[in-house]
Amino acid sequence: MSTTTIAPQLHDEAAIASIQNKIAGIIDDLIAQQPQVDTLTSEQRRGIIARYSSVLEGNFIYWMTAASIAAKCEDVREILGENLFEECRDAHPHMLRKFAIAAHAFPTDIDALSINDELTAVRLFLGKLQAVQSVLTMAFFEGWIQRFMAYLADLAKAQGSTEMEYTDVHGVCDITHTAELYRALALEMAANPVAPNQNLFEGVEVLRTLVVAILQGPKQAAA
Ligand SMILES: [Fe+2]
Repeated sequence: MSTTTIAPQLHDEAAIASIQNKIAGIIDDLIAQQPQVDTLTSEQRRGIIARYSSVLEGNFIYWMTAASIAAKCEDVREILGENLFEECRDAHPHMLRKFAIAAHAFPTDIDALSINDELTAVRLFLGKLQAVQSVLTMAFFEGWIQRFMAYLADLAKAQGSTEMEYTDVHGVCDITHTAELYRALALEMAANPVAPNQNLFEGVEVLRTLVVAILQGPKQAAA
């Protein structure tokens, strides 16, 4: 009896650890791609902050909601709901808008449209409502955001800003959020396994392309 109950758990833990390692490697690669702040022009620094803001301010809550709608496991919806609760209660979109305005980097229509194709790909992926893939995509997103915060703060400081509430909050709270999302991933994978012919990393791949576009601009991302 005990082996039949323990063995699947060990298998799941190994599978989650392997997925987590792969995501950590993708995030490491994205962090390594960040151009040195002091090698960038003021306009290049403004562009990164603006593109990041144009994606995050209007989409993070929407995308977390999409993952919650997709999730079939009640406990997973609860975990994602706690994340959304904090986003709404503490008005994170407002916090991000304050951050961007203070850095003179509030996104223009040109900033938003420069990454339109990459943004659309993520929206259409989440519209498929694939439970496990959507939760994994948001775990990757939280993990990258947390690692990106120090750099985002450095960009804003170089633009003369001292408004750091957004980066201070997200450098800390997203550590817990990321851990919670991996717990959600394990629960959703157990309740709703991905078929072998499905690409578990589909959403991670399109979101990764969007992050590269935020960092480098769309032309470099396509190269
Ligand atoms: Fe947030």
